[in-house]
Amino acid sequence: MEKLDDIVQEALAQFAGINDPVELEQVKARYLGKAGTLTELQKTLGRIPAAERPAMGVKFNAAKVQLEAALASRRETIQRKKLESQLAQEALDVTLPGRGIGSGGLHPVTRTLERIEALFHSLGFEVADGPEIETDFYNFTALNQPENHPARSMHDTFYLEDGKHLLRTHTSPIQIRYMEKHRPPLRIIAPGRVYRVDSDATHSPMFHQVEGLWIDESVSFSDLKGVIAEFLRRFFERDDLKVRFRPSFFPFTEPSAEIDMSFGDGWLEIGGCGMVHPNVLKNVNIDSEQFQGFAFGLGPDRLTMLRYGVNDLRLFFENDLRFLKQFN
Ligand code: PHE
Repeated sequence: MEKLDDIVQEALAQFAGINDPVELEQVKARYLGKAGTLTELQKTLGRIPAAERPAMGVKFNAAKVQLEAALASRRETIQRKKLESQLAQEALDVTLPGRGIGSGGLHPVTRTLERIEALFHSLGFEVADGPEIETDFYNFTALNQPENHPARSMHDTFYLEDGKHLLRTHTSPIQIRYMEKHRPPLRIIAPGRVYRVDSDATHSPMFHQVEGLWIDESVSFSDLKGVIAEFLRRFFERDDLKVRFRPSFFPFTEPSAEIDMSFGDGWLEIGGCGMVHPNVLKNVNIDSEQFQGFAFGLGPDRLTMLRYGVNDLRLFFENDLRFLKQFN
């Protein structure tokens, strides 16, 4: 049976050239499948003389075993080649130099806020928080701000289209939110973003404030002066720093003052303050006969400008890395 040898040789040659496992199984079927060449040839065995049949049967079986063995070894080879090429592709050259990762840094105003929090923490103040989108009630009404107060106008305040909400114009609403939930004695600062319709070298429509509030049975105006002066001296690390209180007006404090600090030959305003108005305490059901205290609002952007000698507030919010990198 020469034909059998031909088929075996042909099959072996074909298997050897295949690199794809699916293709290998397809080619296998062409020889060993139900209608495969070898199978078809085996069917003709019935036509040869009976005496020769057993010997031929042995040959056919040997041929099949040979082909199966060749297939098995080819499968293994294909698999190994695939693994090798995958390993080659994923190879790491550990001798290459590193690409370097740029490290980020804190924004100068964030540094100031963290410094303010740490300093007030050491004076016993907790940090409180509140929403930037406020209601008219928390931003104005509860703070004793009359209906017709100019700060409530569209020229000063960003109102949302629903007419009910606004972007808080100061951090003072946090006083109200905090006092609604806590009873005196209480001592907090509340740093955050605030918004006003205002824009020039020293005003940005978004800026920062730090609110302070201390309510207890006998907190006085001299405590207020002491806390502010102590804070500023520590913040600027200058024991000779002078602090001045100028009479002023805020609806939510009485008496009220602007806080100035000595700077060069003159004075610079860095916040407002005063004794919390009895009406404000009444609005949050705190007995103003038993309790009193002070509140203040500081401008951390201004403090950052002074500490680092920056003369244009807008630089802080333009996010130019050439500027920001100088602080890290
Ligand atoms: N909320 C005031 C402002 O934004 C500042 C302030 C806070 C004044 C607390 C007095 C007491 O101008």
